[in-house]
Amino acid sequence: MPTPLIIDTDPGVDDAVAVVLALRSPEVDVRAVTVAFGNVALGFTLPNARKLLALAGRTDVPVAAGAARPLVYPQAEEAADWHGADGLGGRAASLLAEAPLDPRPAVDVMTEVLRHAAEPVTIASIGPLTNTALLLATHPELIGRIGRIVVMGGSLGAGNTTGAAEFNIYADPEAAHRVLTQPDVPVTLVPLDLTMRCAAPGPWIDALSAGSAIGAVLADILLAYRAAFRERFGRDAAALHDAVALLEAIVPGTLRTTPLPIRVACDHGPGRGATVPDGRPDAPGPMVHVALDADVDAVLEEIARRLRD
Ligand code: BDR
Ligand code: CA
Repeated sequence: MPTPLIIDTDPGVDDAVAVVLALRSPEVDVRAVTVAFGNVALGFTLPNARKLLALAGRTDVPVAAGAARPLVYPQAEEAADWHGADGLGGRAASLLAEAPLDPRPAVDVMTEVLRHAAEPVTIASIGPLTNTALLLATHPELIGRIGRIVVMGGSLGAGNTTGAAEFNIYADPEAAHRVLTQPDVPVTLVPLDLTMRCAAPGPWIDALSAGSAIGAVLADILLAYRAAFRERFGRDAAALHDAVALLEAIVPGTLRTTPLPIRVACDHGPGRGATVPDGRPDAPGPMVHVALDADVDAVLEEIARRLRD
């Protein structure tokens, strides 16, 4: 039986690759796509999610609007510099078809999936953690139905949005703290430390483009991001952060994890949004399974294989 999966996302060019990856993976049954603000405003991320489902021919998957802003404080910054003003590398307007919008709020759709699934549900959270935190806060009775939460976010080293903070965590630190300290749910954190090592080289993206019609569209969506990555890091590549996390959600154990309690810095100093590990042997839990290592070539090949015809 495929594992029921909810994708909580803010598309986003690497979100686009991640969503399509999940839809092409027989190990999971994507039961809902829930959307938050993040890389760009919800007014863009929501239609983007609907466009991605239409692109993949999966207009049957419920797609629902979630948070338009963080839980407590306003969002400090978006990531249009990386993802384009439209969130899809300037290509959103060329994707005309949109899957229908489920009129229910994202948390209601999540709870419906949890209530009706015969198996424990995996939640892949690849944007700000607002929707996922709201689900945990408002429906504690359903927590036992969550098999695991796989989060793309955080960094044990440098951040990518501030010196200390990764984008998804910085976008809503209070929500991230709630999710990463939630007892009774296995949480896997896929941080920048690993996703940057898994950046897809230029030839990988070219092969993606040549390998299938949908791969060509994804490579096109990645074009501006690839150029920005080259400018920033001096190499022809694109970090597919969210796709790496999705692969772990699809095939558990793909990434090698280390159990560590994680706290999120929620103060307003220079560390805001940092994911702080507690490495003491007697550190109080709950433990987060932090994905710090993997066979990088195998990860990239596995993502590529699932995206080509
Ligand atoms: C994360 O932030 C977003 O910009 C990406 O989509 C990814 O989820 C990487 O830090
Ligand atoms: Ca994302």
